[in-house]
Amino acid sequence: MKFAVVLGTRPEIIKCAPILWLLRARGLDHFVVHTGQHYSESMDALFFEDLGLEAPRYNLGLGGRLFGRQVSEMTRATFALLQTERPDVVIVQGDTNSVLAGVLAASKAGIRIAHVEAGLRSFDPEMSEELNRVLADSLADELLAPTETSRKNLLDEGHDDARILVTGNTVVDALLKMLPVARARSRVLDQHGLRGEAGYGLVTLHRPELVDNEQRLRGAIEGMARVSAGGLRLVFPVHPRTKKQLIAFGLEARLGAVRGLLPIEPQGYLDFLALQASAQLLITDSGGIQEEACVLRIPCVTLRENTERPETLRVGANILAGYSPDALTVAVQHQLQREHQWPDVFGEGHSAEKILARLDPQNQA
Ligand code: UD1
Ligand code: UDP
Repeated sequence: MKFAVVLGTRPEIIKCAPILWLLRARGLDHFVVHTGQHYSESMDALFFEDLGLEAPRYNLGLGGRLFGRQVSEMTRATFALLQTERPDVVIVQGDTNSVLAGVLAASKAGIRIAHVEAGLRSFDPEMSEELNRVLADSLADELLAPTETSRKNLLDEGHDDARILVTGNTVVDALLKMLPVARARSRVLDQHGLRGEAGYGLVTLHRPELVDNEQRLRGAIEGMARVSAGGLRLVFPVHPRTKKQLIAFGLEARLGAVRGLLPIEPQGYLDFLALQASAQLLITDSGGIQEEACVLRIPCVTLRENTERPETLRVGANILAGYSPDALTVAVQHQLQREHQWPDVFGEGHSAEKILARLDPQNQA
């Protein structure tokens, strides 16, 4: 059996890694199509290196384009490759434009599609990822849902239960494997003087709903300024989209002037895991970081009005603060005081095995 994995962004590289590790360990025929949606060294090559992955067989180099052009060019190029390679199954993960292109191309080529992380819903029609999720789930043959909540979302939309399997989230597999490596190899805490009693919070922001909106981005900086003035240092790896928007809105100097806040480059997976694992708190609008915070039992504050990861809210690991600086400071106080104890909601780390057992029952370890 021949597998194709279509991916394009930082979180897809991380969450597909456990599947790629297993395909390689079992000697199964497979190849990767990288759309090139993310392309900067710190968003792309660094992850292949940190996660011990081979360079993709194909890289389409289609980053930095607007939606229509990006999805159409990715679909066309992926379709052509799938026609040549004729894999038995195309695996996609998540909800990006690369996923949408992958499912459109595979569907037209008549190839079986497996959607990993199926069934997530923010129920926010304004969010472009929500459309990608709904479309990917409607075209996929195998709906690999991370949790019972995501399975229920799929059932509520009328998807056949026979197409759904609850697998846990592959991010747990990736995190559990890489955390000891990060602890042994990463020097990031020493590099930035982050060891010791004082502690720090770790921040990431990249959603267009926040960073493409000047008032909200200004509000987030103001909120961070209040949190750091309250005594919690903040470390902020700045996503390239956010960097671009800070420059466009003339907010770089304001950010740089916040005392106790350290803006840094986007980090590789090992350094970022080391930063997360020792943080007192995460402040983010990232999907994957809401999950990782929950797994690591680090309290999280999410700067959004909704989340497609409601499991994290239910167990108290995460709290939604919307976009106001006041709400951010209240949420931070609340999360800093809470116990770091809650149940696992994304599985215990054997998701990739479950996924491959479903896709290729003949080839089990
Ligand atoms: C994309 C995904 C989002 C995911 C995020 C993970 C879509 C619609 N969005 O958002 O769901 O959460 O990735 O990080 O698919 N840029 C660089 N270098 C890079 C990548 C991006 O400079 O390696 C800059 C470019 O100016 C680019 C902009 O960031 O135009 C936005 O990149 P894009 O991939 O379109 O969206 P993200 O915001 O990264
Ligand atoms: N991440 C990283 N370095 C960083 C920021 C994030 O390695 O500087 C990892 C993080 O551990 C998580 C993933 O990137 O696994 C989340 O990606 P992102 O926030 O870009 O996308 P989302 O999950 O929101 O789609």
